[in-house]
Amino acid sequence: MSQFDERSITQAVIDRMAEARDPRFKQVMTSLITHLHDFVREVRLTEQEWMTAIQFLTAVGKTCTDKRQEFILLSDTLGVSILVISLNHPPMRGSLESTVLGPYYWEGAPERPLGSNLAEGVQGEPTFYSGRVLDVEGRPIAGAVLDVWSGDGEGNYDMQLPGETEMRARGKIRTDRDGRYWFRSIRPSFYPVPIDGPVGRMLEAMGRHPYRPGHIHMIVSAGGYEPVTTHLFVAASPYLDSDAVFGTKESLIVPFLRHQPGRAPTGESLAVPYYTAEFDFRLRGASSARTP
Ligand code: BEZ
Ligand code: FE
Repeated sequence: MSQFDERSITQAVIDRMAEARDPRFKQVMTSLITHLHDFVREVRLTEQEWMTAIQFLTAVGKTCTDKRQEFILLSDTLGVSILVISLNHPPMRGSLESTVLGPYYWEGAPERPLGSNLAEGVQGEPTFYSGRVLDVEGRPIAGAVLDVWSGDGEGNYDMQLPGETEMRARGKIRTDRDGRYWFRSIRPSFYPVPIDGPVGRMLEAMGRHPYRPGHIHMIVSAGGYEPVTTHLFVAASPYLDSDAVFGTKESLIVPFLRHQPGRAPTGESLAVPYYTAEFDFRLRGASSARTP
C-alpha cells in the first residue's frame, strides 16, 4: 500500500497520468497539479478555507445560465482572460490589439448597410463611428466585417434587460471597396460587471470596484486575416486606468469628439449634440496565429 506525505503526494498524482494519450493534456495537467499543490502548501490552506473555496466554485457554477457565464466573469476579474489573450495575440507591427470578449456577445447579429443606425430606439448620445479596415502595410481590405455590440447610454446590454429577446445595439457592418466603414450607434457609458453573484462578493472582499470604462465591442474579420475580438474605449471615460477586467489597451482608446446639433456625417439632421469617433483597424495575415 502506498502512503503519501505533504511532499510525495504531488509526484504520485502526476504519475497516475502515465497512460494519458494526449501529450499536451498531460503537460497542462502536470503543471496544474504542481502549481495547485504548491499553492496549498504555500498558504497552508485550512480545511475550512478549502470548503469555502469549494462552496464558492459551486455558487459560480449555479449562477451560470444560457445568458450568464459566471466562470468567464471569474476568469475576467482575475486577469486570466486577458493573460490568455496576451499570450495568444501579442501586439505586432501596429496591428489591431485584442481584448476580452465578455459575456454579452450574441452570435447571429444581422448584417446592416453602411451608415445604418445600429442603436435604433436605444437610449444614449448619438455617435457616428467611421474609419477603415487595413492590412499591416496600410492597404485597404474590402468586404471586412465588423460584428458590433454595445450597451446603451447607461451601460445596459440588451441581454441584461428583463424579458428582452430582441437584439439591440448590435449589427454587422461590411467595409466598402476602399476598406471604409461607417455606422451610427451611441456613446457607450462606463458600467459595472454583474455584482449580484459570487464574483461580486469576491470583488467586494478584495476591496475592488466592479467598473469597466466606456467601450463598444467588435469582432473584426476578413478572409485571409486573423479575426480580432476587440473594443474601442472612450477617451476620458472614468476607469480607463482600473478596468475591472484589465482589458484596456492604450492603442484602443479613441477621442469621441462632441458636435453641436446640426447635420451629421451621414447627412441626417440632429436636434441634439452628437459625437464622432474615428478609428482604423489593422489586421494581420491569418498565418501569424500562435500555436503552443
Ligand atoms: C463587457 O465588456 O461586456 C464585459 C467584459 C467582461 C466582464 C463583464 C462584461
Ligand atoms: Fe462591454
